[in-house]
Amino acid sequence: MGITGLFLILFLIVHCFINSLIFLNDGGVTFNIGAHFMGTNWIIRASEIILFAGLILHAYQGLRLTFQNQAARPVKYAYHDGQSNSKWYSRSMGLLGTLLLIFLIVHISKFWVASRFTGIPTEDVNGNHDLFALMVVTFQNPILVAFYVLSMFSLAYHLLHGFKSAFQTLGWNHKKYNGIIKGIGVWYSILISLIFAAMPLAIYFRLIH
Ligand code: HEM
Repeated sequence: MGITGLFLILFLIVHCFINSLIFLNDGGVTFNIGAHFMGTNWIIRASEIILFAGLILHAYQGLRLTFQNQAARPVKYAYHDGQSNSKWYSRSMGLLGTLLLIFLIVHISKFWVASRFTGIPTEDVNGNHDLFALMVVTFQNPILVAFYVLSMFSLAYHLLHGFKSAFQTLGWNHKKYNGIIKGIGVWYSILISLIFAAMPLAIYFRLIH
């Protein structure tokens, strides 16, 4: 889970960076260039297969771990104070991960399927697929905007536990560095989720168009 998790953490940095190009507010032209590069470069296309395999493996490992944990203690403790040594989100990784899985199914069917299979209806001034226009149309729907923003809360808490936990699982922990890893993890989780959540909100409120 540590390796697939770290791989997904790296993917999110690239995904967030390319998507952030929409904040240049140039009608999505620069973002579409980035998306075009990601969609046509064969190294990126090949890593997409690893990405999907990693996602499925990570979700499978997480669900199996959650069920194994439940099966290991079919009779619950009479008294259990989880709060004494762990945060609620650390004990809810299965639930947060499942919410993210639902998010990803909706998300991939909205964007990736259109971009790779069913087609993007319009082209921009450079003749690139206008993925930005698809984003603008998608985020006119307030229910979808709310769904995206709420899903980013799940993402933030999932990453908050997952980041430091990945290092621990791989044995990359040391008293000297644990504080730094935890600190970077907190910044990473909050920043990535905030930037992602800002995208549907900025489009819906027409701050970028
Ligand atoms: C909320 C802001 C987000 C927006 C606006 C957004 C937008 C997009 C777009 C436009 C694509 C299609 C890219 C292409 O086909 O070239 C895409 C693909 C994808 N997104 Fe997102 N995304 C967001 C957040 C996320 C998050 C939080 C995750 C993961 C937890 C995620 C995972 C993926 C995956 C796995 C793909 C397909 C793989 C790929 O195209 O490389 N996205 N996203």
